[in-house]
Amino acid sequence: MLQHFFGLFYLLAVSQLLSFTGSHADECPLQLNPQRVVVKYGGSVSVDCSPSVPHKGMGWEASEGAVSMTRDNLITWRVSELREWDIQPSCYINYNKPQCSVNLPVTIYKTPDSVSISTVNHNGPMMERNQYELQCDVLNVAPVQYLTVNWYKGQTLVDQTNFTDTIKTPVSKTSKLLIRPDRADDGAQYWCEAKLELGEEGPQPPPTAPSETLNVEVYYKPKHSSSTETIIKTKEVSLNCTVKANPAPTYSWQSEHLRETISSSVLLTSTLSSGTYNCTATNSQGSDFKEFILKSTGSRPTFWNVLIFSQLLVASIIVT
Ligand SMILES: *[C@@H]1O[C@H](CO)[C@@H](O)[C@H](O)[C@H]1NC(C)=O
Ligand SMILES: *[C@@H]1O[C@H](CO)[C@@H](O)[C@H](O)[C@H]1NC(C)=O
Ligand SMILES: *[C@@H]1O[C@H](CO)[C@@H](O)[C@H](O)[C@H]1NC(C)=O
Repeated sequence: MLQHFFGLFYLLAVSQLLSFTGSHADECPLQLNPQRVVVKYGGSVSVDCSPSVPHKGMGWEASEGAVSMTRDNLITWRVSELREWDIQPSCYINYNKPQCSVNLPVTIYKTPDSVSISTVNHNGPMMERNQYELQCDVLNVAPVQYLTVNWYKGQTLVDQTNFTDTIKTPVSKTSKLLIRPDRADDGAQYWCEAKLELGEEGPQPPPTAPSETLNVEVYYKPKHSSSTETIIKTKEVSLNCTVKANPAPTYSWQSEHLRETISSSVLLTSTLSSGTYNCTATNSQGSDFKEFILKSTGSRPTFWNVLIFSQLLVASIIVT
């Protein structure tokens, strides 16, 4: 309760402070239009400055496009090819108080020369459940403060990196992504994208530059969805041991009913007698076996045969 009271008190104090500094900043009677600019490096820019009081002279101060003091009531800062990364224009006014001025925030941006994706210290297929590092290199982009690197797997955004440096000139940046691929990631396409989110005054939609895609190949061992399967023998049925694995597995069948091992993934039941058949699928990552129990259709009525036989037996006992 007491904490809430002080919290409220603190908020009041802060809001008063804010409104005070706000009115203080409004003191210089100049209006910039627009109040902030976002310009592509080498692009053109123009900003109007107008007073809200009678004045004795006003002008634009800037390392390029300056306007010397004039009695006009609308002056424009204008540059046709802006190539100064840290330009800081300001509009000033002389009136019945000391000279004051308003700064124009200028953001100059440059889209990256290139965006590329690579795997760090690794070549070739990845092993399931090992960890790997992907890297996205963004060359010569400005200002990095507004740069976001987005990481995608297919069309899904999987990670995002922002940068906090306030440097205005172009720099190169690297973002890294750790992945631990599983079998479902075999064939996944990773890519990254550099995006410059320059705000409302910036270009819409924000400029983006994608990398090429990185196709991930994952090695994983065979794994059957069930380790045993019972199959009733009919004409068409087969024992199918086919299982997904990368690299493709080899197969071998073992059974007391087979004279030699068979290396195909499928056995046709029409040629087989009832019994147990083991199939092992193997690749460089490991192996997995599956047991097939093949039953003949004739074996099911046995129970009824026994029942009828025992009833006949009972009947014969009663008769005698
Ligand atoms: C990165 O910046 C963007 C745009 O400003 C923002 O939407 C996003 O939440 C930020 N992401 C992170 C991880 O900070
Ligand atoms: C065996 O199973 C695989 C995968 O489940 C399937 O693609 C294939 O067609 C099957 N083969 C036969 C002969 O049924
Ligand atoms: C199949 O494999 C299982 C487990 O290894 C074993 O117990 C069984 O005896 C094998 N059956 C045949 C017919 O090889």
